[in-house]
Amino acid sequence: MDGISELRARYLDQVAGAADADALEAVRLAALGKKGEISLKMRELGRMTPEERQTAGPALNGLKAEIDSALRARRAALEDAALDARLQAEWLDVTLPGRPRPRGSIHPVSQVMDELTAIFGDMGFSVAEGPQIESDWYNFDALNIAPEHPARQEHDTFFMHRAAGDNRPPHVLRTHTSPVQIRAMQDQGAPLRVIAPGRVYRMDMDQTHAPMFHQVEGLAIDRAITMAQLKWTLEEFCRAFFEVDEVELRFRASHFPFTEPSAEVDIRCSWADGQLRIGEGDSWMEILGSGMVHPHVLRAGGIDPEQWQGFAFGMGIDRIAMLKYGIPDLRAFFDSDLRWLRHYGFAALDLPDLPGGLSR
Ligand code: PHE
Repeated sequence: MDGISELRARYLDQVAGAADADALEAVRLAALGKKGEISLKMRELGRMTPEERQTAGPALNGLKAEIDSALRARRAALEDAALDARLQAEWLDVTLPGRPRPRGSIHPVSQVMDELTAIFGDMGFSVAEGPQIESDWYNFDALNIAPEHPARQEHDTFFMHRAAGDNRPPHVLRTHTSPVQIRAMQDQGAPLRVIAPGRVYRMDMDQTHAPMFHQVEGLAIDRAITMAQLKWTLEEFCRAFFEVDEVELRFRASHFPFTEPSAEVDIRCSWADGQLRIGEGDSWMEILGSGMVHPHVLRAGGIDPEQWQGFAFGMGIDRIAMLKYGIPDLRAFFDSDLRWLRHYGFAALDLPDLPGGLSR
């Protein structure tokens, strides 16, 4: 049968030439599919004489088997080639050294803010916030700092730009967190217990001053708040924050326009062997300003000074972070130097809480 050898040659050729699984499947369908050429030929066997069938039958069956096994062999070869190509492409040298990832850490200022929030939160203070770009009313007037008051100069204020012809007083970068006192009073009324940690700005730069630094404001307002409660609150805070049993605070009479009376507070410490120890020794270090909220300030916050009184304090966060963690230079706080951060930073999951111990 000439037809058979022609079919064999043609299909074996096509099988060998199929470049991928799809092409191979197309060849299979053309030859052996339901309407494939070889399948149709086999159907013709029924119409043949028994003699014809005797030679044509085995020949066609043989051809079918031959094409079928050629298809299988080709499919296996294509699969092997595909696997080889993948192994080449996905080759990986497992002996290469690992690439170290830069490891971030929690900045000491963030850590100390979390510590402050935990300690004052335990005493019933909630956290209040205000904008860093503040109107001069909130930053000065409402805090009893009149336009001609020398404190406006002493604070070395950064003023925001106003468009030419706009004669309203310029906004300022807040010089302290005290404006949040006014905002909290306006928002929440009395009684009130808040702390307000955040950024403040003054034109100042040396080893212990940066033009941007952090303060935490404290404000407690109730019917009969006293200076004694201010003192207890600050002592409790220092004991918890510095993690020492005994702290001693010294209240020095001072002056702030927004408190009356006012006191600056020093903490007892020693510098023996160049090491700072809180709670012992003969040295004193200033850590905060405080006092009883001035009636003008209560009024500016919408609170009646005949009914309510309060204490307030403002403390440098960077300062107490330097004290607690032995960090000598303030400017390095804001250099974003990874080496510094790795040295002084905190692990991301070491969240400070009172039962767990603050700094671990
Ligand atoms: N705002 C004052 C400062 O920045 C600190 C302070 C706050 C003093 C609250 C008394 C009461 O220096």
